[in-house]
Parts: sequence; structure tokens; C-alpha cells
Amino acid sequence: MPFPLKTGSSPSGHLTIDGCDVVELAATFGTPAYIFSVSEMKRRATEYLDAFSSRTDAFEVLFASKALPVTAAYRLFADAGLSVDVASGGELTMALAAGFDPDRIYMHGNNKTDAEIELLDRSGVGTIVLDSFDEIERCERVLSRKVDALIRVTPGIKPSTHSFIQTGQLDSKFGFGLEDGSAAKAIERVLSSEKLELTGLHCHIGSQIFETEPFRLAVEALATLKGDWCRVLDLGGGLGIQYLEEDSPPVIADYVDLKFAAVREFFGEDVRILIEPGRSLVGTAGLTIYTIGTVKEIPGVRTYLAVDGGMSDNLRPMLYGAEYEAVIADRPETGGDTAVTVAGSHCESGDILIRDVALPSPGVGDVLVIPATGAYGYAMANNYNGMPRPPVIFCEDGIAEVVVRRESWDDLMSRDQ
Ligand code: LLP
Repeated sequence: MPFPLKTGSSPSGHLTIDGCDVVELAATFGTPAYIFSVSEMKRRATEYLDAFSSRTDAFEVLFASKALPVTAAYRLFADAGLSVDVASGGELTMALAAGFDPDRIYMHGNNKTDAEIELLDRSGVGTIVLDSFDEIERCERVLSRKVDALIRVTPGIKPSTHSFIQTGQLDSKFGFGLEDGSAAKAIERVLSSEKLELTGLHCHIGSQIFETEPFRLAVEALATLKGDWCRVLDLGGGLGIQYLEEDSPPVIADYVDLKFAAVREFFGEDVRILIEPGRSLVGTAGLTIYTIGTVKEIPGVRTYLAVDGGMSDNLRPMLYGAEYEAVIADRPETGGDTAVTVAGSHCESGDILIRDVALPSPGVGDVLVIPATGAYGYAMANNYNGMPRPPVIFCEDGIAEVVVRRESWDDLMSRDQ
């Protein structure tokens, strides 16, 4: 099961995460709730840093903060020595509030507004990742200082992952195409800019990727653009994680090795290597806990369990057909004897979190745990059906801390005039 390393069981057989009893967490903080192992997030950050530092000093690991835009997560990764990738003014505001050195902030976005460019300008953000010709002109107009810039290139590589999370192909809303010559044109344009200092290239070919070859091919493709100005190569994120028992993604060290070797092969010694992991830093560190509220058996058809969350706290099954495992918190080791479908509480038939999972005689009141929901769960949470968003709870060595409180019913009206 894709649980954090520090997962165990209490003397009474309850699931524990980073020393905290999950049944107690549910009783104390309520459900649904997002639970994270802080040790796991730190461990994965360290794995990335160690994998690079044994090879070079010229690297940065950026936390792709869209995966978990929570101030405490920004703070944790800033303290761990990571840099950060922000994709909007909102993420930038959180990164600054959490204390990231602006020099270590990389600003993304395929349609940055004047207001966002003004914010990055006045807050001293180190690097902008340029995405379009219109944006280059907007920067010339809005920026008051010279800012380091990377050009985002779509290298024409399509990894095997859900089409919604493929981003490296020419037919993409992101970046400058390699095949159609726009990347080369963008380089020429930025080299003559008054406000942008071209320092290198960026590419991100997609997310939840298990193969390693596409990353190498992407570096090879980028190398056709290289010039003296190219001192930085930002290779994006994308390393897949385990969601299901049978998933076996590459380990971080091998993935870093591969990217590092590809850069040395195609760009030589003198480039600084950046990567932007999101999912692989926080995905398996997080899990969602729910309470089962109804069990509906339709004889000869199926049994539905309804939990007190659903598509408002985890859109991934509906959006990408994502699949998950589940256990019951007070008997996680017990084998499943009942095949069920886990449904949410929303007014949509498609609000299904898991189809056909075997659980040990699940009943009303049981705490259901879905692992590997740490990335893009909270990040894409919404208030459909007036559902308040769950709290985020960080656990470390037996101490649980609420880092984002549960939304209240009143919060739902806090912006209504
Ligand atoms: N860098 C850039 C420019 C990105 O667009 C992304 C993710 C990342 C880094 C981080 O990629 P990761 O290491 O997490 O694969 N909501 C989708 C994932 C969308 C990813 C968007 N970009 C999901 O839940 O699967």
C-alpha cells in the first residue's frame, strides 16, 4: 500500500501515521480530513537533495507548490533547503508569506497578468519562466527591473500518462514549440530584451510518469536550442508515485541520475540543473480520512459505501479516472471480505472515489482511509454542494498539528455581499 514510511499500528491495532493513531485523529479533528506525515515529506526532499549533491553543487530542487499550496508546506520545504515553483500570484503570495527567499522563487503561468508580473517585480522574485510572446511584451511594459528568465519549451515529447496531464507536445497551451520554430524565435527576442535576462530553458513534459526515456529525449530535444546564454536547465517535475499496490514508479535517486546524465550528455558540465517535483514530494505523504455514513447493498448489483466527502476533496477520480486503495483505520491489516464501491456525498452519480475495493466488513461509523492523496487533493478541493473543505493536519513523531483549519458553513458565505 502506498503509505508513508512511518506507518504502523497502535497496540490496539489501529493504523498510525508518523506516530499518530488515525482513529484518534478522526475523533479529535473530525472527518473528512487530510493527514500528512511530515517525516515523509522531509525524507523525500532529502532524497532529492542527496541525489543531486552527490553529483554536483550546481542544482536546485524546486517544490512545485501547486501540488500542496499550504503555507506550512511552503515553510517546510523552504526550511529543508528547496526552492519553489509558483504558478500564480496566489501561490507567490503564499511562498513569500512562508519566508522563501525571493531569489529562490520561480514564477510560472501560461497567462500571467499585469498584476502578477507587478507582484513578482516588486517582491524581488528571482526568475520568471516565460510562456508566450504576449507575455514577453507584457514583461517589457510592466517590469521595472531586469529579471532572469527561462524560456518554456514544448519539446514534442509525449509520455504515457493521462492526456490531461501531458504537457510536452507541440499541441499544448503551454510554452514555445520546438518543431514550429517558436522556441528559437523566443530566444532571439529575449536576448534583445531590456527587461529580461535570458539564463536558460525550461520544459515539463507531464505528470505521473513512470518511464524514464521521455525525460532523456526531452533533454536531447532541448539541446538543439543551446547557446552561450544557456546556463540553467529546468527540467520540470513529473515523477510518478505509487497509488495502487501494483504501481512501481522509479525511485528518486534513479530518476535524478537519469536527468543528470542526460544533461551532462547533451549540455556538458556548465549548466545548473533544476527540477520541479510536486507529486513525488507530497503524494504518498498524505492520506484522506472519512467516516462511512451509509452502506447500501443492491443485491446482485453492488454495495455502495457513502463517505462524508468525495469529489469536493478529491477530484482526481472524476477528472482523470484516478484509482486508489483504501483501508479501515481500526483494522488496516485485516483482509477484505466485502467488495464495495466508495461513493462521495455529492449530488452526482459520478461522485465515486473508488470502484470495487475489498474491505473487511465495512460498516457505518468506520473511519475509511484513502492513501496517496497528498498531491492535488487539497490543491483542487472545491465547495460543490456547499461542502466545506477539510482541514490539513501535519503529523510528526506522534504530534498532530492543524495547519489549515476546517472550513465552516459560515465560511462559505464569507465573500457573499
Ligand atoms: N512544473 C510544472 C511547470 C508543472 O506544470 C507541474 C505540474 C510540475 C512542475 C509538477 O509536476 P509533478 O512533479 O507534480 O508531476 N492535477 C493533476 C496534475 C497536474 C500537474 C500540473 N503541473 C493531477 O492531479 O494528477
